[in-house]
Amino acid sequence: MGKVYYISKNVSLGILVLAAIALATIIALSIAYDKERAKNRGKPGDGGTGGSSTSPPPTTHFTPKEPWDRYRLPDSLVPVSYNVTLWPRLEPNTDGLYIFTGNSKVVFSCVKETDLIIIHCNKLNLTTFSGHHAKLSGLSEAAAPSIQKSWLVEKTAYLVLRLHSSLTVGATYVLHTEFQGELADDLEGFYRSEYTEDGVKKVVATSQMQATYARKAFPCFDEPALKAVFNLILSVNWVKSNYSAESVIDGVPVKVTTFEPTKRMSTYLLAFIVSDFVSIQRLSNSLQIRIWARKKAIDDRQGDYALNVTGPILQFYERYYNATYPLSKSDQIALPDFNAGAMENWGLVTYRETALLYDPILSSTGNKERITTVISHELAHMWFGNLVTLQWWNDLWLNEGFASYVEYLGADYAEPTWNMKDQIVLYDVHKVFAVDALASSHPLSRRAEEVNDPSQISEMFNTISYSKGAAVLRMLSEFLTEPVFARGLSSYLNTFAFGNTVYTDLWDHLQQAVQNTQGMQIPDTVHNIMNRWTLQMGFPVVTVDTSTGTINQKHFLLDPESVVDRPSEFNYMWFVPIKWMKSGVEQQLYWLLEKSGMVTVTHWVLLNTNMSGYFRVNYDLGNWDRLLSLLNTNHQVIINRAQIIDDAFNLARAKIVSTTLALRTTKYLSKERDYIPWESALRNLDYYLLMFDRTEVYGAFQAYLKKQIQPLFEHFKTITENWTKVPTGHTDQYNQINAIGVACNTGVESCRDLIKTWYRQWMENPNQNPIHPNLKGTVYCRAIAFGGVEEWEFAWEMFKNATLASEAARLRSALACTKAPWLLNRYLEYSLDPAKIRKQDATSTIQSIARNVVGMPLAWNFVRARWSYIFQYGEGSFSFSSLISGVTQRFSTEFELQELKQFKEDNLHVGFGSATLALEQAIEKTTANIRWVTENKAHVLKWLTEEST
Ligand SMILES: *[C@@H]1O[C@H](CO)[C@@H](O)[C@H](O)[C@H]1NC(C)=O
Ligand SMILES: *[C@@H]1O[C@H](CO)[C@@H](O)[C@H](O)[C@H]1NC(C)=O
Ligand SMILES: *[C@@H]1O[C@H](CO)[C@@H](O)[C@H](O)[C@H]1NC(C)=O
Ligand SMILES: *[C@@H]1O[C@H](CO)[C@@H](O)[C@H](O)[C@H]1NC(C)=O
Ligand SMILES: *[C@@H]1O[C@H](CO)[C@@H](O)[C@H](O)[C@H]1NC(C)=O
Ligand SMILES: [Zn+2]
Repeated sequence: MGKVYYISKNVSLGILVLAAIALATIIALSIAYDKERAKNRGKPGDGGTGGSSTSPPPTTHFTPKEPWDRYRLPDSLVPVSYNVTLWPRLEPNTDGLYIFTGNSKVVFSCVKETDLIIIHCNKLNLTTFSGHHAKLSGLSEAAAPSIQKSWLVEKTAYLVLRLHSSLTVGATYVLHTEFQGELADDLEGFYRSEYTEDGVKKVVATSQMQATYARKAFPCFDEPALKAVFNLILSVNWVKSNYSAESVIDGVPVKVTTFEPTKRMSTYLLAFIVSDFVSIQRLSNSLQIRIWARKKAIDDRQGDYALNVTGPILQFYERYYNATYPLSKSDQIALPDFNAGAMENWGLVTYRETALLYDPILSSTGNKERITTVISHELAHMWFGNLVTLQWWNDLWLNEGFASYVEYLGADYAEPTWNMKDQIVLYDVHKVFAVDALASSHPLSRRAEEVNDPSQISEMFNTISYSKGAAVLRMLSEFLTEPVFARGLSSYLNTFAFGNTVYTDLWDHLQQAVQNTQGMQIPDTVHNIMNRWTLQMGFPVVTVDTSTGTINQKHFLLDPESVVDRPSEFNYMWFVPIKWMKSGVEQQLYWLLEKSGMVTVTHWVLLNTNMSGYFRVNYDLGNWDRLLSLLNTNHQVIINRAQIIDDAFNLARAKIVSTTLALRTTKYLSKERDYIPWESALRNLDYYLLMFDRTEVYGAFQAYLKKQIQPLFEHFKTITENWTKVPTGHTDQYNQINAIGVACNTGVESCRDLIKTWYRQWMENPNQNPIHPNLKGTVYCRAIAFGGVEEWEFAWEMFKNATLASEAARLRSALACTKAPWLLNRYLEYSLDPAKIRKQDATSTIQSIARNVVGMPLAWNFVRARWSYIFQYGEGSFSFSSLISGVTQRFSTEFELQELKQFKEDNLHVGFGSATLALEQAIEKTTANIRWVTENKAHVLKWLTEEST
């Protein structure tokens, strides 16, 4: 059995009013926020809002003179261990402030002579000792230099001590501090989360350290490579006075919990929580696994599913990595307030409630899948990221890209019938293609010197890092084959356990695995192949001409008129592994290593057949015609239909093929029953919807889509026996949601009636919701759109009373679907009222409103008018970039472009924080949209009109 992480003499009393969970180590990522939110959007019916990516801005290489003015710590001191005691107060003090007090002793050694001690410290009030902010001593009574002067530097978040003489290289010292901080509701560092249970307000003290917030909990050397052992003690006020307290501090009885020393780990993976949450647990191969949540959620069995899948997923990774789980326990906890989707703290993973809690009766299949993939993602980090950590944040893409790839493997193991491995195409590959095809994109890999301050670090948490990272690692694993990839990985993890790496260390170990595999051949080294994918931005479009047999590559740019001003040492050429088939017969992997090559072709060819290549494919028109005719006669032969559709639409955006060719890939859809091609088509048509839903094209668009969706709607009606059941297949369940959503939106009468009836029944009997959880998101949204104030108010009541977070999220999103401007404006006001909408949900609520064609201008006016307030209200949140891209996604007129530029101008003094790049991209996208609409509107209208009759 594992070690015990909290030790309490009072356990024998049987009542632990406050349970403190200590975390041994963690890793998670705040960026999962954007990622997971964006995924949610892809899942029909759950009504999440999309994230967007941002590219970090070019950095100026100005190095300040004084070491305390630089964001990176000097390399003279390295921490060994910390003894930290923290005492959060879960009641406000007389000034109405929630605080915590604490003290810390950090043992560090000196590796380069220096008379300065620089350590991170942010927003902490330090106690002074003889006028200095800290006490310094030598370890084991050795002498330490005395402090000459100490001061705090706010900008770089440092405590600086100047000493009377230098520290000795090789010697070890102890720095002692005492401090008081605010337990604020800012979701950063050691913070406060509140919730109400049975009418009682409860306070939770919890933490989020990634990327740069550990320094807000206690003074520390807050960089990922400065790993140390943490000895943590947490005190809490002892609330049940009839039990004897363990100790008394300042006259207050407190309960003290001492945690086992952690493994050697990074500060950003630390976590500690004080709450009255309860847990369920299980032993899995003698490892203790616990799921923690609010008591009501646990009583409602919302933790059971997470508990069920955690053991198998951990076992999968142990086998995949060929490395045992590094810790002696695994805790996972669902928090009512959490900025990211989840955070991989080592041994204590924190989640939003929607990412961990599954209600067997109320949750949808999409909710369940999200829980599985998020757990799988976070647990992948327990080794990759936590046990072996990247040296610095510039390599974040490897950490996040890796977890974003293998999460599908872990989820597939836990739920083998779901075809999870196919879904990466929709949720990562196609998603990031859209961003990486812009001239403003950026390479995966950045130099360490380009990433310094906290905002540059938080900008690394973007779609490129997560999804392109996942896409190129998947391509690598495919061409190396999974066993070779896993062998290299295992040797990497075992070699660098408890240490730090740079991304080339992984390439080295993969290369070694290739060399150790008999008969394994790749055309160049792993380094040389991968450098082309990681050191230059973008990806190629590969074109085959079946009339000549030539094949060539070219950097794919969505806007052919955009200018790439970022030079590449590889001249935007890649080493491209191509899986392909000729007239239905699989061919050997073909490597395109030059600008062009030759292949022998036959009647028809199809490239990137397993959709694992990170590139687009174009053909000569003859081959396109043959593929399109196959789609219409025998579509199953084309195994990568989702790819064909997505490529055609994007090639059309880039003016490489005509818009009508792209639209022609959707003609066969009336025969399509599979989810992935449908979803791919709907996402691409969504752009047409956004561009045209305020124009005369809208009518023809609706008529065409109605014609295409009707057979799918009827299909599901039949197989669900008049909607009394749900399909058995996992992705069929998603496609049923698409069928209903699109049918209702395009005016299929029986769909409207169905939805109105269901919603009406629910309003009449609120305790008896007749709508299947899978369909709730879609049904709520459409019923509110068709309805009026009565339907809206009912949903608002249900939202306020919802005890399941994912149900609340569906309702919150559906409330944005009303067509009544006054309701939308009122709802916008609600979004900034924390008593009505949790702060963590403010920006996604505004985005949902902007997604509605009626709400879009209202949301834009709201954001413009309130920018400085919103900016300060959501400070520290990662979601500004998706707010800007969400609100501006329909922009396609000259007038809107001017407004956007004016907005930028007017708010320069306020700033845009993490939305800086999103704003630039919004301007770029609007410009491209204007051009696209001008050039395509007439053709599209004509084609749709002809095809819809
Ligand atoms: C830190 O705590 C451990 C365990 O209580 C103790 O053995 C050690 O001496 C402490 N270190 C310092 C520098 O006080
Ligand atoms: C820290 O000190 C400042 C200035 O005295 C005070 O305003 C603030 O409330 C203090 N913070 C805490 C958490 O005690
Ligand atoms: C968890 O697993 C048990 C045993 O296999 C099963 O009966 C139960 O339905 C599962 N719970 C959930 C929520 O999937
Ligand atoms: C797994 O690890 C063990 C010991 O570390 C090693 O002997 C074995 O070869 C590894 N297996 C694979 C498949 O890498
Ligand atoms: C579905 O409804 C139709 C018409 O209302 C009816 O004819 C048919 O038998 C029903 N099918 C099932 C399986 O209940
Ligand atoms: Zn992650």
